Order: sequence, then structure tokens, then C-alpha cells
Amino acid sequence: MTKLMIRLVAIAIMVTSYAGVAKMNDDLTYANYDEVKVKHVYLDLAVDFDNKSLKGFVDLSLTWLNNNTTTVYLDTRDLKVFKVYAQKGEGQWQKVAFDLAKRDDVMGSKLTIKPGYQADKLRVYYQSTEVASGLQWLTKEQTAGKQHPFMFSQNQAIHARSWIPIQDTPAVRLTYDARIKTDEALLAVMSANNEPNTARDGDYYFEMPQAIPPYLIAIGVGDLHFKAMSEQTGVYAESYILERSANEFNDTQAMIHASEKLYGKYRWGRYDLLMLPPSFPFGGMENPRLSFITPTVVAGDKSLVNLIAHELAHSWSGNLVTNESWRDLWLNEGFTSYVENRIMEEVFGRDRAVMEQVLGVADLHGDMANLPDNDEILYLDLQGRDPDAAFSGVPYVKGQLFLIFLEQRYGRDKFDPFVLSYFNQFSFQSIGTEDFLTYLQENLIDKYPGIVSMSEVKDWVFKPALPTTVPSPQSDAFDIVGKYSTQWLAGNKNLADMPTANWTVHEWLYFINGLPRDLALDKMHTLDSAFNFTNSTNAEIAHAWYLLALHNDYNVIEEQLAQYLVDIGRRKLIVPLYKKLAETEQGLKWAQQVYRKARPGYHPLAQGTMDSILK
Ligand code: BES
Ligand code: ZN
Repeated sequence: MTKLMIRLVAIAIMVTSYAGVAKMNDDLTYANYDEVKVKHVYLDLAVDFDNKSLKGFVDLSLTWLNNNTTTVYLDTRDLKVFKVYAQKGEGQWQKVAFDLAKRDDVMGSKLTIKPGYQADKLRVYYQSTEVASGLQWLTKEQTAGKQHPFMFSQNQAIHARSWIPIQDTPAVRLTYDARIKTDEALLAVMSANNEPNTARDGDYYFEMPQAIPPYLIAIGVGDLHFKAMSEQTGVYAESYILERSANEFNDTQAMIHASEKLYGKYRWGRYDLLMLPPSFPFGGMENPRLSFITPTVVAGDKSLVNLIAHELAHSWSGNLVTNESWRDLWLNEGFTSYVENRIMEEVFGRDRAVMEQVLGVADLHGDMANLPDNDEILYLDLQGRDPDAAFSGVPYVKGQLFLIFLEQRYGRDKFDPFVLSYFNQFSFQSIGTEDFLTYLQENLIDKYPGIVSMSEVKDWVFKPALPTTVPSPQSDAFDIVGKYSTQWLAGNKNLADMPTANWTVHEWLYFINGLPRDLALDKMHTLDSAFNFTNSTNAEIAHAWYLLALHNDYNVIEEQLAQYLVDIGRRKLIVPLYKKLAETEQGLKWAQQVYRKARPGYHPLAQGTMDSILK
């Protein structure tokens, strides 16, 4: 071959691989999203409570990136697929063959569709099944009102595929619209344009015109009612908790303003909250325009509203700029924890924000004590793993600390504009850790030389443990709590002498979490009779106390703990309790007995976690 020919061949190879956008960083999808991308989804589904199934069809609009293929691979899990059609332009729908592969425990079943040409649309007739990992179906008896059933979705990380055949990767962004039919008595809401005054007729239509990753498609159906908190914000909830939620969260509008001041306009139109049943396995989920919220944060004193700041913050970090794979989760959760805390500082002041940092760091240390080195790395190694199993405080708090480190080195006058420009630069895009690092180097590290080195940055992102440059937030209020606690433990102070009347929930949490795990029983009794922790109605305080009680064999809590475990399905609150119980034979027996009662009310994800803890 002549030199010229070699060069031509080389160019041809480059061009074809470029046309294929050869970047596929997500191993948790079967989709060939380097060759074809779903750009729009239309869902046409009926909600069948009797059979615990969503039933109907989905239209997937495709953009082809590679001229040499006509095959589409989709993700599914536990779906029944009936028929597949393909359409070219506005032509006739043509029936096409499909193959549903054997089920993989982590990934689900690959759906292969071969129309033989580059179809513009695919239509898949299907239904979800009772075991869908991304849906929870509650009977009317399992709801607070006991009159109507409830169902909701939780797609993150890879559960969209359990109710929609789709390219289930955050690397893909799509718009969607949906028609949802259900019982006339029920209201359906989605992560889309909910109209507060929509006619309650069991036939609902939604549009999400902004491109989002599939893990942000979300639906909730139940006996829902709406209460406005401001022009832009409101709450959907069952009646029992509607008023209380609207009061608890009436700072949401102020939070939006605080975040806009720092990070630019809120891009999504309305921002509403959907209150889920207590079985919701998370605290919150940032579904766009409609965050899903656990009722366990409705404490009556706004003590746990950082959760709202967190889910709202995802409107910038996560929903606007999205991690392209679950390995990059820290880009979503670390940034969001950082932004959450900045919002809290703006709305509730510096002292509270710092207290929340300190509590977060303490939780992180607790998590890291039990994590393998590999899971302490921000850029996670998920090879062959279920992303749910790699979940910990690391992407959250270590990620947040990394950003606080940068903030402190550069100062807010330089760091805040950097974060703002980052959100604008990558808005409505999915990016990876390397993309962020390149942007960081060009727009901060190299722009202001001599402040932070790339090798310091890489220690944060690619190494386990916390680097030597880790910031250590200090709260004066907590220092005082710590001082009293030490004095009481040493027998030099009575509980009555402590200035607890003005303590916030944060100070109580710091106090309880700081107590020794081998406290004498009489001290536990003394604490309980002074402060009645066993009957606390604050879900976080109760959690901290029950955990301490289990460490110290303080059995007085038994009845309340059993009730707590039956009532609440939020994993963060119950998993540590079950784990602690499972450490002893007697504890395990007791826990299994409680779990038999609790399990039917838990979400499939929580059932999976607890099944493995309790064998
Ligand atoms: N997006 C997460 C929940 C999530 C993460 C679901 C990973 C599935 C996989 C949500 O924004 C979240 O972080 N919730 C926290 C809030 C807390 C940190 C304030 C929760 O649920 O506890
Ligand atoms: Zn989050």
C-alpha cells in the first residue's frame, strides 16, 4: 500500500468509529446506545391494581448514529412482551420479530428487535408484572386512608426497565409524553407537567418536553390531593398528611430562590412534592418537577427539610447535568449534597448548615468503617455488581467534602462562578468523571495556578479513604453538646443541668450518636426517663436511639422498635437496625419475627435488602 492509501484507510477507520460515537461507559445496560438512541418515549398504560400491573404499549422514537446496523437492543426486567411493531416515517406499522433473552439477576433480560431497516419508531406491547423491582403496589388496607390503593415507581438506578422496555442508561436522554388510565377516584402524577387543577377522571395526559435520562421517568397513583405552597410549588399527598406537609415544606420557594441566586435559573417550570407512603425505600427521589418524598421527614418542626433542599438541588446537579453511568454517581450525589448544604445555609443560616455537615461526616466515617477499600473511591468500580449493592455515603459525603475542599482553597468568589459555569456548560447533558476533571482543570486548576494540584484532585477521586487535605467542619453548638455529654458521663453533671430546652434535633442527634456503645443500663434508663427517646416522634432521633439501645441491650424499646420497623420502609432508617439485630442469635430471631409482619408492607427493594440480611 502507498502511504496515501494507508492514510486514507486510517481516516476511513477514524470516521466510521467517530460516527458510532464509540463511547460506551455504562456496563449496566444491554442497549447499543452508541449506534441508536431513543430520543422520545410515548407511554400508553392502564394501571391495573388487581393484577399489580401496568399494561399497554410504549412508542420509542429513534435516532440512528451508525449506518451499518438495523438492530435495537433494549433493557427489560420481568416484563411480559406481547408484540413489537416498527415504523419508517409515517408509513404503516409493521410487525417485527423480537427475542427476549434469559434473565440476568442484575441486568434483567435483553430485548432484541431486528426490523431489518432503520426504523424511526418502535411500538412494544407489554405489561409489567407483580414482581417489578421499580414499582410498589399498596392495597387500600396498606394506605393511611384505607379507602384506595396506591402505586409508585422508583427507577433509580436500573429499575425503569422493570416497567418500561427502554435503553435504561443515564447516558441516554429523552423527552416523553404519556397517557395513563386508572380508577376515576384516583389521581395520577408524573415527573412531567402536572396540572394542579386537572379534572379527576381517571384519564390523564402528561408531557415532559425536556430531555431527561430514563431513571427520572416517574409515576405515582393514589388518592392524592393538592395543596399549593406558593405560585410555583405545591404538595400532592393523601389527605392525612397534606396540610402537615404543606406547612413543613413551606420554605421550598425560598430554597428555589436561594439556589437560583447561586447556580442560575431553575429550568423546569413547576416544582411540586409527592408525599409517598412510609414504605418508600428512600428519603427522597429527585424526579423532575415532582420530587418524591418520604413522610418520615414531616417532623413538625422543619428539622429534616434538608431533604427537600437535597432533592431540589438535583434540579441542577443530576437532572440538568447527569452522571453518564452509575460509576459516576458522585457527580450527582456529591454535587447535590454540596448544593443542598449551600441552600440550607442561605435559608436557615450557617450554624445549621455546619451542623448538618458534621452529622454527615460522622455518618460517612460510620459507613467507611464497614466498606472495602474499593467502595471508598468516588469513581466507583461496579464491574459485574448491582449498583444498589454499592450504595453508601461515599458518593454523597466524600463528594461533598471534595467540593468543600475546593471551595475553601479557592474561596467562594472563584468557586461559586465555577460551579455555575459548570452547570451551564453541561446543561441537559450526561457526562462522566473524566469530563468533569477536564473541565475542572481548564476552568479552575489551570486558571488560578498554584492553589490546587491535579494530583491532589486525583487523590480525592481515584483513591480510597479520605485524603490528607480533607476539610473538617466544626460546629460550636456541637462542641458545647459534647462538653456536657462528657461531664454527664463522668458523673460531674446532672441531665437536668444541661441546657437542652433549646436544643435542636441536630443537637439531640449529635448527643445520642456521641454516647458510648457500652453505656451502663442505668444510664440508658436515666436518659430515657429524662428525655423519653423511646417514644420520640422524630424518625431520625428514634432511629439513633434504637441503634444505641441495641448496642447497649436496653430492651425497653422492644415494642416501639417493632412498631417502627413495621411502619417505616425507608432503608436508611431500618437497615442499620436489622443489621445490628442480626449480629446475635437472639436478636436475629426477634428481627425475623418482626420482619414477618413488616415484609408485606415493604417495597421490593427493601424486601431484597432485608431478605439478605435476615437470611
Ligand atoms: N437520588 C437519590 C436516591 C437514590 C440514589 C436512589 C441512588 C437510588 C440510587 C436521592 O436524591 C437521595 O439521595 N436521597 C437521600 C436524601 C438525603 C441524602 C438527604 C435519601 O433518600 O436518604
Ligand atoms: Zn440525591
